Amino acid sequence: MIVAVIGAGIIGSAVAKTLISSNRKNRIIASDIRVEQLSKLEKEGVETTTDNKKAAVTADVIILCVKPLDVKTVLSQIQNEIKGKLVISMAAAVNLKLLKKCAPQAKFVRAMPNLAIIVQESFTTYCPEHDLSNKDLEIVESILRSFGTTAVVKEDKMDALTALSGCAPGYLSSLMEHIVRGGTEIGLPAELSLTALAQSMIGTGKIILETKKSPADVMKMVATRGGVTEEELNELAKYPLQQAFRSILQVGVKKSKEITRKLLDECQ
Ligand SMILES: NC(=O)c1ccc[n+]([C@@H]2O[C@H](COP(=O)([O-])OP(=O)(O)OC[C@H]3O[C@@H](n4cnc5c(N)ncnc54)[C@H](OP(=O)(O)O)[C@@H]3O)[C@@H](O)[C@H]2O)c1
Repeated sequence: MIVAVIGAGIIGSAVAKTLISSNRKNRIIASDIRVEQLSKLEKEGVETTTDNKKAAVTADVIILCVKPLDVKTVLSQIQNEIKGKLVISMAAAVNLKLLKKCAPQAKFVRAMPNLAIIVQESFTTYCPEHDLSNKDLEIVESILRSFGTTAVVKEDKMDALTALSGCAPGYLSSLMEHIVRGGTEIGLPAELSLTALAQSMIGTGKIILETKKSPADVMKMVATRGGVTEEELNELAKYPLQQAFRSILQVGVKKSKEITRKLLDECQ
């Protein structure tokens, strides 16, 4: 399979590297306006070009990894080259209606990965346009599955998932920074705190995914009566953490909808 990755920044580079290492039979062509992004990928065996049309015409499947506000420009450049082809868009807030408006004859899938593509642990949600064949759906699933775990969702959930899982490596890292800072105040070297915390996050996530326990179950299992965790959880309850997390997700959804509206207005 020949896959074109258009936009070779943070996500596009991770996509191209994962696809080339997951199956050496794949031909991956990365296209970007920045030559310096491309030279890093050439060392990994990825073919590169600064010509989006050339990448699109050669490929069977196109993965769009440019920023949301650049999607329209790129699709208008390559609309003839992608007629009848599968195009997976990773762009936040760019809905199927918009994609279809820019290139009516392409077959689109709107996807939302997260930064953990870098280590093939992304949680990638996606919604295909409704008339894709089973063969197309199999191709999409096999590509996205190579980045981590996948879930097919209805498009009306995509803005919320952008806010929750697309942005998760960002807000979880912010939380980790605060905890590590607290760790140094109780006498731990920052590096040790960070390793301990990151491994604890992986472990907690695995408990929840693999044993199907709820966060409340996990809290009960750790917080023995009169013990250290119970003391910490009681202290945590004094701070407005719930409000902070509800609020960040709400602003995330609002921002996503604002970007969609801006892009749709520009298309009128
Ligand atoms: N980063 C994340 O964690 C994350 C998570 C989920 C989804 N996404 C989505 O993934 C997409 C890419 O995000 P990113 O963080 O990887 O962005 P990025 O690092 O800025 O990568 C985008 C790349 O595309 C290049 N580009 C701009 N216009 C182009 C054009 N006309 N043709 C070819 N390349 C062009 C950019 O160059 P310039 O820098 O010069 O513009 C940049 O190198 C976004 O739509 C975002 O919503 C990102």
